[in-house]
Amino acid sequence: MRKSTKYLAAVAAIAIGSASPFMVAAQTMQKSPARLADVMSAVQFRHSKLWTAGQQKNWELAGYELELVKSSLNEAIALYTDIPVDNITMIDPPIKSIESAIAARNSAAFGKAFGDLTTGCNSCHQSVGRGFIVMTVPAASPFGNQSFAPRQGQGKDAVRR
Ligand code: HEC
Repeated sequence: MRKSTKYLAAVAAIAIGSASPFMVAAQTMQKSPARLADVMSAVQFRHSKLWTAGQQKNWELAGYELELVKSSLNEAIALYTDIPVDNITMIDPPIKSIESAIAARNSAAFGKAFGDLTTGCNSCHQSVGRGFIVMTVPAASPFGNQSFAPRQGQGKDAVRR
């Protein structure tokens, strides 16, 4: 398979959804695309919020943050076409596992999949000469201005699709 074909297949495989507002923004703001490091910083804080929401069993928030992680990664892929295909596709299975864990409200499965996601982040960083950017499972939330606890009476079907 030619590289460009593989790249397109990988973008399709990551299945992030063409309706993403970030994708639309990436396509329409050609004059000043966000720098990849800035997009990655957004991925970083969403990765952190996703973890905290999962730890507190706030599955509605976790689903929301996961969507934002996916959107930002999709934007990164759109901005940076030299990212190796294998490292784009390897991030997809853990994202799907996190989706399943959120749907099942399964903390143990969430924890395992989150670790795999974080390994995926680092694999890509290593492969593009950024091995010094090492992501970890967060030790604590730096977001003192946001409550991650589920609201009282939060709906059972609240996971965002
Ligand atoms: C497909 C490849 C790829 C994947 C997957 C990936 N990254 Fe990155 N990331 C990069 C590249 C390339 C850079 C360097 C960007 C630059 O130097 O302009 C980067 C940089 C970063 C930075 C540094 C930004 C800064 O300003 O300090 C952070 C933080 C980061 N990524 C977090 C993450 C997290 C968290 C994940 C997983 C949820 C992730 N990345 C997944 C390719 C990737």
